[in-house]
Amino acid sequence: MAQLTDRFGRHIEYVRLSVTDQCDLRCFYCMPRGFRDFEEPEHWLNFDEITRVMGAFGRLGVQRVRLTGGEPLVRKDLPGLVSRLAALPGIEDISLSTNATRMRKHAQALRDAGVGRINVSLDSLRPEVFKQVTGGKLEKVLDGLMAAKEAGLSPIKINMVAMKGVNDGEFEDMVEFCLEHGFTLRFIETMPMGDTGRHASQDHYLDLQTVKARLEKRFDLVPGVMPGGGPARYMQVVGTDLKIGFITPISQHFCETCNRVRLSVDGTIYTCLGQEHNLELRPLLRAGCSDDELLDAIRRAVDLKPERHEFRDRPEKVLRFMSMTGG
Ligand code: GTP
Ligand code: 5AD
Ligand code: SF4
Repeated sequence: MAQLTDRFGRHIEYVRLSVTDQCDLRCFYCMPRGFRDFEEPEHWLNFDEITRVMGAFGRLGVQRVRLTGGEPLVRKDLPGLVSRLAALPGIEDISLSTNATRMRKHAQALRDAGVGRINVSLDSLRPEVFKQVTGGKLEKVLDGLMAAKEAGLSPIKINMVAMKGVNDGEFEDMVEFCLEHGFTLRFIETMPMGDTGRHASQDHYLDLQTVKARLEKRFDLVPGVMPGGGPARYMQVVGTDLKIGFITPISQHFCETCNRVRLSVDGTIYTCLGQEHNLELRPLLRAGCSDDELLDAIRRAVDLKPERHEFRDRPEKVLRFMSMTGG
């Protein structure tokens, strides 16, 4: 089978597909309040174009697609797109990263269309803290989360960005919450994405080794494994099914095992979350390129993939906002 391999010998088998850069929340580490710099709708890849590009990735050995945003459910008829992606040869795993605000309405349709696993952002279980971080209502997100569980989406992973002075009083509560509901929990270090992310990552950064050491005082943790293709390193709480993942882009980067590229809503392949190396597919697609030209462009993009991000060495560097590339 064809394989995409970069200059450092890494196999690319996972595409993070951003279907919109818009979101109905405003997490302060992701999108500043009042942010308006969204992509023009005529620049969004339409579903035919997305399906064509993902078909090409599938031919080149990509097996996993994760739908991201912004908030992917802001894009109309996402289940319709999922059904088309699920029918593509080679694509075996379709997952979704969401804030869950719209899950009550869409969970069943997404599952029926072929979404398996979902990851849900949930930084706090306290309504006032949740509002401070996201600008939104906790109640709505918890309702969406329960709808996802009722629809049988599984596993459900909770993403909690660990932030000093914001949610560092409730890590243990989140463990208990995930134990109660059968969710997997992942802690994430803040990354300096865009202006907002940079401030958040300076003011509220927490090294996850500290978080892990703190949890070990209360829970018995041993190394664990979890299906997925992402960078989390997992521990298991002994005597339970609960897995806790640690995503440590800053304190312990995972670039040597990176297996992914990102496709933004405007059809640009970004080869690293923390670097600018990219290739624009939209002009090619709209100029009527052949399938061979498309495959060749994807190979050229992968050749641009840098060895690693530089969040730690150059924290002052302002990169595009997270919502532009899809977290
Ligand atoms: P699975 O393991 O397949 O469940 O997915 P995932 O953990 O990659 O997906 P998710 O969208 O939940 O991302 C969780 C966190 O990991 C987010 O903060 C992402 O920005 C971060 N992340 C995912 N991929 C990368 C990456 O390649 N580099 C960096 N630095 N961070 C990443
Ligand atoms: N640093 C770390 N994680 C972030 N996310 C969004 N912005 C950042 C950032 N600057 C996370 C969200 C979501 C996931 C897809 O990315 O919390 O769970
Ligand atoms: Fe929206 Fe996710 Fe960004 Fe929060 S982190 S503003 S939910 S895209």
